[in-house]
Amino acid sequence: MNRKYIIKTNNLCKTYTSGGIEFQALKNINLEIYQKDFTAIMGSSGSGKSTLLYLLSGLDIITSGEVCLNDTRIDTLNEKQLSLFRRKNIGFVFQDINLVPNLTLLENILIPGYLVEKDRKKVQKNALSLLDTMGLKLETNRLPSQVSGGQQQRGAIARALVNSPSVLFADEPTGNLNSSQEENVLEILSKVNENGQTVIMVTHDVKSACRANRVLYIKDGELNGDLLLGKYSKNTLVEREKELLEWLTNRGW
Ligand SMILES: Nc1ncnc2c1ncn2[C@@H]1O[C@H](COP(=O)(O)OP(=O)(O)O)[C@@H](O)[C@H]1O
Ligand SMILES: [Mg+2]
Repeated sequence: MNRKYIIKTNNLCKTYTSGGIEFQALKNINLEIYQKDFTAIMGSSGSGKSTLLYLLSGLDIITSGEVCLNDTRIDTLNEKQLSLFRRKNIGFVFQDINLVPNLTLLENILIPGYLVEKDRKKVQKNALSLLDTMGLKLETNRLPSQVSGGQQQRGAIARALVNSPSVLFADEPTGNLNSSQEENVLEILSKVNENGQTVIMVTHDVKSACRANRVLYIKDGELNGDLLLGKYSKNTLVEREKELLEWLTNRGW
């Protein structure tokens, strides 16, 4: 099958320097992420998963190599161009959620929308429809502190989607949630992916990764494995978990 890629990297490297000591967090990453895929990134703690997500989304600056997103070399953009590009093309969901505490869920979604789209009515309509999709109709005008952690994270997903990004990135989006909230959030991510949204999610949870149709494994800053799982369906969850776990075990998980 000839799949169209939306992200491509070429010898992507990231070195952190702290206290005069250099640490190579990512080494020569060469990968392609395909349009409409749900890609999971796995690997042990400290292997470089978050770093990779930040570099692919332009939230952090690469040390060397190339990152292409939607046919744009994002590593050569200046700060202003990059922030404009991110606003339009990137949605990012963080483990610690970080909605603005003194704004309602609706307002949290409207603000980034208004930054990109001048037609405010259009943004409002889209935000309300996203809240509906996320099962948050009743919570529209509540503050983050007035809803559960899972509802907050679904609000954050709506916020990330308001500008119809090319790619939705999520860094351990269920890391701080209980298991029923986790299930709700994963269900939402599956749903938006089924609707054609490209999703890239970092997770260290096997069950969460089973939502993806492709799993990448990072080990000590290097791409160490690439598994095609096929499209997610609940019916095949047990077999998927088994296949993924076996594969992970072979990589030293
Ligand atoms: N800002 C930073 N300065 C120095 N080292 C960092 C910084 N951010 C991450 N690292 C180091 O880079 C490695 C990869 O980190 P990270 O990408 O956060 O890993 P993961 O998300 O897989 O747990 C770790 O060893 C971490 O300590
Ligand atoms: Mg991380």
